[in-house]
Amino acid sequence: MPAISLTINGRAHGPIEVREDLTMNDFLREVLGMTGTKFGCGAAQCLSCAVIVDHADGTSSTMPTCIVAATEFDKLNIRTVEGHAKNGELTPLQKSFIAHFAFQCGYCTPGFLNEGQVLLERLEKSPIPRAELEGTIAEALDGHLCRCSGYVKYHQAVRDVVLADAHRFLT
Ligand code: FES
Ligand code: FES
Repeated sequence: MPAISLTINGRAHGPIEVREDLTMNDFLREVLGMTGTKFGCGAAQCLSCAVIVDHADGTSSTMPTCIVAATEFDKLNIRTVEGHAKNGELTPLQKSFIAHFAFQCGYCTPGFLNEGQVLLERLEKSPIPRAELEGTIAEALDGHLCRCSGYVKYHQAVRDVVLADAHRFLT
């Protein structure tokens, strides 16, 4: 069996032997017991399973875990929903999700949270004009499905974080 090593939320894991057909979602949930990452459609259609991948150039992006083999994550540096809060302190985005009651069942929330965080990090590196904000948020969150239809609240929650710190995210 192949063995993988990766960093999750700043902590090194591995080498751990995995079956070649083990998905990253099962690796996180079943092998590591990290059940914050959800399994929704299982077909790369809802992104409830998406985690953040930190790239060597300092950028970040999300990646689904449901149909991707754990071996594809070998040597990667990733973040999951469990890694956002630090020392019990929620991030501004997490607080904004709560303030907007952006979730009902919460199943899609880890994916939206990860995507929103990636967007904030992108805007911090490349601020945009206020006029482009609504479209940029919509585009970033597009592809994440919420069966409880919380789209507007997620959008508003992300927007509030950007506007509360506009000098960091907007030109
Ligand atoms: S569970 Fe992975 S995209 Fe839906
Ligand atoms: S809050 Fe239930 S699926 Fe989004």
